[in-house]
Order: sequence, then C-alpha cells, then structure tokens
Amino acid sequence: MSKKYFYIFVCIVFVLVSGCKSDAGGQPDFDMTDYRPMAQVYKDYFYIGAAVKLGEYDSTPFYDAYPASVLESFNSFSAENGMKPDNVYSSDGSFDFTYGDRLVKYASEHGAVVRGHTLVWHYQSDNVFKEKRSKEEAREFLQKYIDTVVGHFRGKIYAWDVVNEAVGDGGQWRTDSPWYRYYGGPEYIRDAFVFAQKADPDALHFYNDYNMVNSTKRARVIKMIKDLDLISAGLDGIGIQAHWNLYWPSAAEIEKAIKAFADMGLLIHITELDIDCYNGNPSMGEIKYTSSLEKQLADRYAEIFSVFRKYSQYIDSVTFWGIGDEDSWLNYYSGGRFFDSPRNNYPLLFDRDNKPKKAFFAASAF
Ligand code: XIL
Repeated sequence: MSKKYFYIFVCIVFVLVSGCKSDAGGQPDFDMTDYRPMAQVYKDYFYIGAAVKLGEYDSTPFYDAYPASVLESFNSFSAENGMKPDNVYSSDGSFDFTYGDRLVKYASEHGAVVRGHTLVWHYQSDNVFKEKRSKEEAREFLQKYIDTVVGHFRGKIYAWDVVNEAVGDGGQWRTDSPWYRYYGGPEYIRDAFVFAQKADPDALHFYNDYNMVNSTKRARVIKMIKDLDLISAGLDGIGIQAHWNLYWPSAAEIEKAIKAFADMGLLIHITELDIDCYNGNPSMGEIKYTSSLEKQLADRYAEIFSVFRKYSQYIDSVTFWGIGDEDSWLNYYSGGRFFDSPRNNYPLLFDRDNKPKKAFFAASAF
C-alpha cells in the first residue's frame, strides 16, 4: 500500500471508530453543557416537582440553598417536612403556617404550583396524637384540622396528599396508626376525603403511598378505594411515592401500577421519586460515585422517564424527593427507616455541587 492509501485507510478507520463510540450500554454520552431546565423540557407532559426544605429543623430554605438555574428545573413544589402535622400543629391547639406560607409565596412569585403534603399520617404527627380521643372526638378533631389547614391554603394549593400511607407493608391496614386506633377502623380515611373536599372543592385530593408497585399492597389500596367508596368522597388521584432503587421495580411493574389506577379513572402523581444507590441495604458500607454508578443511575432514570412519558396522559406531575444529593433523606434513611450512621447516597439529579448529573440529562433526553 502506498503512503497515500495507507493514510486514507487510517483516516477511514478513525472516522468509523469515533462515529461508533458509545459508552458500555450503547447510550450516547450526554452533553453536560447543554442544560435545559427540566420543567421546560417536560412542559407538554407533566409538572416537574421537588420536595424542599423551608427552614424547619434549622434547615436553609431551598431558595437560599440553590441557584436560580437549578430551581428553574421545577414548576411544582412540596414541603419535605414543613407542612406535616408536627410542623403545623402544636399540642396547645394552635396552628402555624409559616413554612407553607413561605412555599406558597415563592411558588406564586415563580409561576409554580404547590402540592400539599400531608394532612393525615401516622408519622411526624406526635403533636396531634398527644390527646386521648374517642371516635367521635377524633372525628371532630379531624374535621377541625382539615378545615383549618386546607381552608388556610384554599385556592393556593392545587393538590393535597389527604391521606398518607394508611396501608401497611404486607397489604393489611396500618393498625398501629393512632388514627386507626381512635376510630377502631379505617373510616377515618373516608372522613378525611369528605372533609378535604368540602374545605377546598377545587383542589385535587390524593391518596399517597409507597410500594404501590407491589401487587399485594396495590390490591389492598384498590380494595380500600372501593370498600370505602373514596371516589364519591372526593378522591381524585393516587400519589405513587416512587422511593425506588437501581434494580427495583422493573419498568413492567411500574407500568402495571400506573395502569391499574388509571383504569379506575384516577389521576396519577409521582410524588417522591428518588433512586437509592444502596438498593435498600442498610448495612452496606459507604460507596463512591464511580463512573459506572453514574452511568447505571443515568440509564435507570432514562428507563423510568420513558415509562412516565408513555403514560403521560394519566400522569400530571412527577416530583423528586429533594433537589441535590446532599439534601436527600436517603443519606440518613434506608428502607424507610432512620439509621444513625449517615452515608453519602446519590439518588437525585443534582450533585453535591448543585451541578446536573448525567442522570439529569438522561431523564431529559428523548
Ligand atoms: C421524610 C423526610 O424526607 C425526612 O426528612 C423526614 O425525617 C422523614 O420523612 N414518605 C413520605 C415523606 O411521605 O413525607 C417522607 O419524608 C419519606 C417517606
């Protein structure tokens, strides 16, 4: 081969090799400089939300913690803790709306909506449960609580998680919930929807829970909706929390959950999305954010968002449970349980320097 032809041959090989270059899974590499706010990317599909800190428990309010460029990715917000019963109600009977008011103000100034999280829950509600109550007293209190809170935010909060996690892990009722005990049964769930519907008929009313991809639990939730006739009581939709991991659940399981509730005529909100990079294992030692984990997480988010897009006619809102990895509850919790040896987790779309991760671009690419 002459020098000239050898040179052309080398060029052709070079062009072929670089043209086919891809990372291990065959996905194109994402251009990290091409940042488009995610709320804008998904504007024709669903709201993109985030759970945020508002100063409760000595936290820095999210609007002081994150740059505007990051916050522009979200057009829906939920209070991570600030609107839970313990932060709203004191056992002396007083209500405090400081954190919710902060969130509503920020949202109205930035063209975003607010999801109200949450009215009736067994957890972070100790102030509510200090008193012993008969069923009738519990019912009266429930009505007063919902009237006061939903009434305060009437017209400002477009969707409420009215009841959170009323079904236990095995698909049975959560019988250790003080609400269940006050009532001696699950009727408090129906009452809560009736009261919330009355307090703000224009808001959307959700039942919110985790493990909805588990067929036993889902069957129990569906039976609950039917037995308690929740749709006639004002139930509009289902909040699928989506505390998931790198392997679980499969895309098929997610689809099944969405379809099952959509078939009942209910709206779907994905309310608490994050991906546990320790896959629910509380005893695993600290892991590093290697390039293979970075890629695995990106592929996982790409997979999940392609399911959400496929069912976007039913899904109105997708909320991440946090913004940056540093802020995630998963640095302190595993499988829903607090553990006292914090470790770095990497469940969200922004890293510890508030930079969009490869997963951000993967979730936005279609
Ligand atoms: C979590 C918060 O992120 C933590 O900061 C808090 O200590 C415990 O609660 N399901 C829910 C959320 O509905 O309210 C929980 O949020 C996560 C699980």
